[in-house]
Amino acid sequence: MQLISTKQELLAVVEACKQQKKSIGLVPTMGALHEGHASLVSRSVRENDVTFVSVFVNPTQFNNKEDLAKYPRNVQADADLLASLGADFMFAPTPEEMYSAEEMSNTFSFDFAGLDQVMEGKMRPGHFNGVVQVVSRLFYLVQPDRAYFGEKDFQQLCIIHHMVERSSLKGTFGNLQIVDCPIFRGANGLALSSRNARLSEEEKETAVNISRALFMSHAWAKAHTVKEVEQMVIDTINSIPGLEVEYYEIVDATTLQPTDTFTNAVGCVTVYCGPVRLIDNIKY
Ligand code: PAF
Repeated sequence: MQLISTKQELLAVVEACKQQKKSIGLVPTMGALHEGHASLVSRSVRENDVTFVSVFVNPTQFNNKEDLAKYPRNVQADADLLASLGADFMFAPTPEEMYSAEEMSNTFSFDFAGLDQVMEGKMRPGHFNGVVQVVSRLFYLVQPDRAYFGEKDFQQLCIIHHMVERSSLKGTFGNLQIVDCPIFRGANGLALSSRNARLSEEEKETAVNISRALFMSHAWAKAHTVKEVEQMVIDTINSIPGLEVEYYEIVDATTLQPTDTFTNAVGCVTVYCGPVRLIDNIKY
C-alpha cells in the first residue's frame, strides 16, 4: 500500500489509474479505523480495481474545539490495517495541505434543501458544510467510480446523496455511485465508532443500552404510535446512569422531517455517554 500525503502526488496517482482504465473505489474516513471501516474498505477492494482510503480529521466539520482535539488519531495502526485489507492508497494530508487559510475558516454554505436543519445539523451548526466541503474535495481529487459511507451517520449519508444528485452538479462527479453500507455492530449491539475509543470498559457496557433501546423500539413500533415509541426510547436510555439523550427523532428517511408513520421511517439518536457523544439509528 502506498502512503500519500500531498494533493499533487494524489492527482498523479489518480491520473495513472485513469489512464489504465482502472475502476476506483474511495473510502473517506477520519482515521482511528475499526471493523466498521474495515467492512467498507473490504467491500471497495472487492468491487473496484483500486481502493483509495482517505484518513483526515477534517477540522472544518467540528464545531466543538475540544471534540476536535480529543478525536482519536492513530495513523500507523490505520496504515497497518489498510495494508492488511488490500487497500492500494492511503491519503493522509495535513489540514494545511488540504485547505487554504480562507477555506479553513469554513465560510462556505451549501444548500441542503433543509436536510441540514434538523438533528445533527441543528445541534452542530456548520457541521455538514464542513463534511460536504471535504467530501466534495475528495471526490474532485480522487474521481472515484464508487464511494463508500456507513449508515451510522444516516443524516450525513442523506446529505451526500443530495449533494451528488443536485441537478447543478449532475455530471460533475461523472458516474459516481454512493454506496450505503449497513451499520457495523459489536456482538453486544453497540454501533462501532471511532469515538468508542474514548470510552472506558465500563462506559462501553453502559453504551450498549443505546442499541438495546433501539431494538426494543422496533418491536414496540408494531403496537404504538411514533410519539409513544420516541418517548419510550428517550425514557429508557435516560433511566440508565451515565447516559443522557440529546435527541431521539423518528423521521422520514428521505426528507429527514418528523413523521407520524413508520413507513420509510428511521429513528436517529444522539446520546452522551459521560463526555462522549455517540450516535446510532434504526430503520422501522
Ligand atoms: O464520517 C466521517 O468519518 C466523516 O464525516 C467523513 C465522511 C470522512 C468526512 O470527513
